[in-house]
Amino acid sequence: MKIITVKDELAGGKVAFEILSEKLAAGAKTLGLATGSTPLTLYQEIVNSDLDFSDVTSINLDEYVGLPAENEQSYVAFMRQHLFDAKPFKQNFLPDGLAQDLQVEVERYDAIIDSHPIDLQILGIGRNGHIGFNEPGTPFDMTTHVVDLAEDTIQANSRFFDSIDQVPKQAVSMGIASIMKSKTILLLAFGEQKADAVAKMVNGPVTEDLPASILQKHADVIVIADEAAASKL
Ligand code: GLP
Repeated sequence: MKIITVKDELAGGKVAFEILSEKLAAGAKTLGLATGSTPLTLYQEIVNSDLDFSDVTSINLDEYVGLPAENEQSYVAFMRQHLFDAKPFKQNFLPDGLAQDLQVEVERYDAIIDSHPIDLQILGIGRNGHIGFNEPGTPFDMTTHVVDLAEDTIQANSRFFDSIDQVPKQAVSMGIASIMKSKTILLLAFGEQKADAVAKMVNGPVTEDLPASILQKHADVIVIADEAAASKL
C-alpha cells in the first residue's frame, strides 16, 4: 500500500484528481465510484476540470434498497448532483435498489462489472472499516450482494436523513471480490473518525472483521489520508 498524507480533504481531492487524470491519460476507460462525503472534493475537482469523460464508463459501489431516484439520499441522486449532471460520462451504472427481484439485480450487476473491468476504483472507508457496504463479517469472496446495514453505519449515515428511521436498512453492494478485481484502488480517508479504521486497515491483521484490511493483499492500492485520519498510523 502506498500512503499519501495530505493536510486536509481539499488537498486530498487535488492529489486524487492528479492520480485519476494520469490513469485516464494512460488509457483507463472504467472508473469505480463511491458515494459518501469523502469523495466530494475529488468530484468537485473533476467538475471544475476540462477533462472529457464522454468515453469513460462508471460503475458505482452501492445503492440503498427502497429509495427512488427522486429521493435525494439515493446514491443515484447523489451522483447526479455531485458529478454526473455536470460531467457527462459514456455511461453510468449503479445498482437498482428498487428492482422487483434483488437476486436478479445482483446478477445483472455482476455481469456489468465482468464486462467492464474497473481500471481505477475510488473508495471511502466506514468508521467500522467497511468498504462499499461490505460490513464487518462479510466473506472476502463475495461479489455483488444484498446487505443488512450495520447499526453503526445506519447511525453514521443518519446525518443525511431527517430521522434515523428514514435510513434504509438494506443496500445492494459490490462485494469485496468485485472490488479486489480492480486494477488500481484509490482509497480516501478524511477526519479523525476514520483514524482507527485506517490504522487497522494498514497495520492490523487481514480479517473479515475489518473489511478494508483485505486491501493489504492487493498489488496496487493508494491511500490518501489527511493528517487526522493518518494520526494513528
Ligand atoms: C457509506 C458508503 C461508503 C462510504 C462510507 C463512508 O456507508 N456506502 O461507500 O465510503 O459510508 O462515508 P463518508 O465518506 O460519508 O464518511
